[in-house]
Amino acid sequence: MGLELTVDNLVKRFGTRELFAIEQLQVREGESVHLKGENGVGKTTLMKIMAGLEKPCSGTVIVTPKQRRWWSGRIHPDVIYLHQTPYVFMSKVIDNVAYGLKLRGGSRQNIKIKVKQALVWARLEHLAEQPAHSLSGGERQRLALARAWILAPRLLFLDEPTANLDRHSVSTVAELVSQLLKQGTTIMVSSHQSNRVTELCTRHLLLEGGALHEGVHHENMPHEIDSMMEPQRYAQH
Ligand SMILES: Nc1ncnc2c1ncn2[C@@H]1O[C@H](COP(=O)(O)OP(=O)(O)O)[C@@H](O)[C@H]1O
Ligand SMILES: [Mg+2]
Repeated sequence: MGLELTVDNLVKRFGTRELFAIEQLQVREGESVHLKGENGVGKTTLMKIMAGLEKPCSGTVIVTPKQRRWWSGRIHPDVIYLHQTPYVFMSKVIDNVAYGLKLRGGSRQNIKIKVKQALVWARLEHLAEQPAHSLSGGERQRLALARAWILAPRLLFLDEPTANLDRHSVSTVAELVSQLLKQGTTIMVSSHQSNRVTELCTRHLLLEGGALHEGVHHENMPHEIDSMMEPQRYAQH
């Protein structure tokens, strides 16, 4: 059965300020979604709520099929959220990659094989023994992707994965995300601008004025023009 995420009447407020109210959103397995919106509109908050990391004030997020044996009712084992600034543990790169898998259990041998595969996949093999906190921004982002990849998520939230990265690092991240998509991982990527990663997305959502708008992507538009896309071009969902 395909993984499906359904949002219903989701409202988030901070104090008296309503950040957003989202009536309906459905994300189906295999989709690639760009969540667009100016800084401060609530992209991070929305993604964290959808990933089960934050609570909405009202409304629901349902991920089906449900996994009842998981330790928390809200966090789904097949759903992973990657922070904009990847968190690294004060240990070697290889241990950072192994961390999630160790938590989930499995034989030592199996963990070892998978960690090696993940390091190769994210092109971090040569940095395996290096302290993770010594990595560059691009390398940290690849480490975060390796940590996600190893857990084989079916839905992956990427929060501004290319913010502050140089062109080469952006290309590498885009290539890894493209591979995840080919493997069938559903991806939602937040970014206030179009870039190599958001270009991989076939669905575009705009968070603006506290509401979510289903968007139209203009394939041939240069990034700069696309990033200035007027809200009128979006039809209310
Ligand atoms: N815990 C919090 N308490 C109060 N305000 C918050 C909290 N978290 C986020 N906000 C506010 O909500 C707004 C949206 O934040 P965020 O979701 O990070 O937006 P975006 O990712 O689109 O830049 C910001 O104005 C931010 O200051
Ligand atoms: Mg954000």
